[in-house]
Amino acid sequence: MYKILKRKVLHDGILQFTLEAPFIAKKAQPGQFVVLRVNEYGERIPLTIADFNREQGTIDIIFMVIGASTTMLAKLNEGDSILDLVGPLGKKTDIRPGMGTVVCIGGGIGVAPIYPIVRGMREAGNHVIAIMGAKNKDILILKDEMEKVADEVIVTTDDGSFGIKGFVTTALQQLIDKGVDISEVVAIGPVIMMKTVADTTRPYNIKTVVSLNPIMVDGTGMCGGCRVQVGDKIKFACVDGPEFDGHLVDFTNLMERQRMYRPQEAVEKDHICR
Ligand code: FES
Repeated sequence: MYKILKRKVLHDGILQFTLEAPFIAKKAQPGQFVVLRVNEYGERIPLTIADFNREQGTIDIIFMVIGASTTMLAKLNEGDSILDLVGPLGKKTDIRPGMGTVVCIGGGIGVAPIYPIVRGMREAGNHVIAIMGAKNKDILILKDEMEKVADEVIVTTDDGSFGIKGFVTTALQQLIDKGVDISEVVAIGPVIMMKTVADTTRPYNIKTVVSLNPIMVDGTGMCGGCRVQVGDKIKFACVDGPEFDGHLVDFTNLMERQRMYRPQEAVEKDHICR
């Protein structure tokens, strides 16, 4: 059992849990994820590790209440426990000294997993520009935390209520147009956002890494549920990723696969919420 030490509501429907998980905290690296099961009736849900503290033996997860499982998860309080927590899973982000200027982009809830990557890139001595996107200023998360770890933070909101009016690609295009020498872009967020980021950088041949979030079951490469098309190869996001070359990912196929179980998810959520 994994105890919830802290429960914080970041925004209506977006929560942050600090979990007691010393063995996972000891090995966690930016870019990796955990698979958890709330209770014996819960499905296994993958969540990227939003933060970890090796000394305190804790990891943080940030999630949005969308379906049945996250609804069940959100009902838990400090002191409650989660039945299973497996991890750290997946490959860590490629972080090295001497990478130059790296632009890390987080959209919506994707700001949470991009945060440890920004911190890791900066600790390795790279120049890190973070672009954070949200629909409006009220649902912008982790801005203060990001400002502490990035060299520069740019915020975009769809409605212009804070920062640049537009999408994360608006800010990215501005950096490119200004002639910023970008060595790599890392983008995490909704699939459509990652696709448009990859479309923006492709003409300039800027290396672009995206973190994919397909449906997962076991998280260890056995079920095939998380398969994604990358170039001419089929990859399993849980063991080969979750990060891949954004210029090679078949985003259309990924979006179709993500929609496959929507009717069943709606029925189950209705059942849980009743
Ligand atoms: Fe089963 Fe990746 S989640 S193979």
